[in-house]
Amino acid sequence: MKQPRIPALVAVLAGVVLVTSCSKSGGDAAPAASTTIKIGEFASLTGKEAAFGQSSHKGTQLAIDELNAGGGLLGKQIEFISEDNRSTPGESATIAKKLITRDKVVALLGEVASGRSLEAAPIAQASQVPMISPSSTNPKVTETGDYIFRVCFIDPFQGKLLAEFAKRTLKAQKVAIFADVSAPYSVGLAQYFREPFVANGGQVVSEQKYTGGDKDFSAQLTAIKSQKPDAIIVPGYYTDAGLIVRQARQLGIKVPMFGGDGWEAPELLQIAGAEALAGTYYSTHFSSESTEPLAQKFVAAYKAKYNGETPDAMAALGYDSAMVLADAIKRAGTTEGPKVREALAATSNFPGATGATTLDAKRDASKPAVIITVKDGKFQYVETIAP
Ligand code: PHE
Repeated sequence: MKQPRIPALVAVLAGVVLVTSCSKSGGDAAPAASTTIKIGEFASLTGKEAAFGQSSHKGTQLAIDELNAGGGLLGKQIEFISEDNRSTPGESATIAKKLITRDKVVALLGEVASGRSLEAAPIAQASQVPMISPSSTNPKVTETGDYIFRVCFIDPFQGKLLAEFAKRTLKAQKVAIFADVSAPYSVGLAQYFREPFVANGGQVVSEQKYTGGDKDFSAQLTAIKSQKPDAIIVPGYYTDAGLIVRQARQLGIKVPMFGGDGWEAPELLQIAGAEALAGTYYSTHFSSESTEPLAQKFVAAYKAKYNGETPDAMAALGYDSAMVLADAIKRAGTTEGPKVREALAATSNFPGATGATTLDAKRDASKPAVIITVKDGKFQYVETIAP
């Protein structure tokens, strides 16, 4: 019985020695400066909109890996701390606090959904920690304060281009709007579509509401059908939009249906089915078919890292958010919040996967949008619309 105890004792002693020498090298004089630069991310890695978080995260991670391989930032490696908010309301604020106070990140990257960016933004603002949303398009996100930035276009632009698209390409005069009242993004995009569409002589013949996560949309769709619209806009997220398209077709609604960037996910195909998606369109930020050299370089690097997977808009914007932040930290020459904030605000023509990023006085980017359609069960690029 005694024999086996000896190795254990040796191990314990070795452990003590190790711990002692560690704490010594740490030093108890002046606290050693951090050997890494910590960047935090909050994302919907699981839950209802996991497709968004996963894509965005993968794009961001690719950028961090490239930056670290190139020597990191200011002579240090980047430590990327990513937290999952499970697509759940309330989580993003808690995570932002944890990343800032406990992990001491120098900046926050996130989120895709405007509602979740809006939860974290006040905390970043109050802590003077710059935050960059890759792809939240609701104007209110950056209106939170001068520490909040985004690298994508905003919904007044997206709503207007969808209004023009409905009129010009779909030849729709009478439109129905079916929006998610639980998502600031959806409520906003519905409004930014309605105004220019009506101002241009279009008519909104029915306006219906749902709550994200609903499963049965037949009552609202029946009401929409009775008004005989030429097209239906569903400014919501792919999970609900997919079900809505499927149920609309089941009810015999054959008119074109369209939405904004919230539709962007391969899962849309699985949820709605290829057949139901015939005659649907959405606007988004990026097409992997882009022939721009930097877009192609990004697509190739993404495919190489993720087993041939094709990146979508969120992946491209996630990538650009990290690259724009890195560029600002380099120009600032420090990771102090106010200095990085200033450098971010001065971002001009920074070349990235989604084109050149210039951050305007409202800390928003202005970029072209692309229209995608679904044809024979495949997403297909239709056109690019300049800002
Ligand atoms: N723009 C959406 C929002 O603000 C999120 C989104 C971005 C969805 C890009 C898909 C693609 O909530």
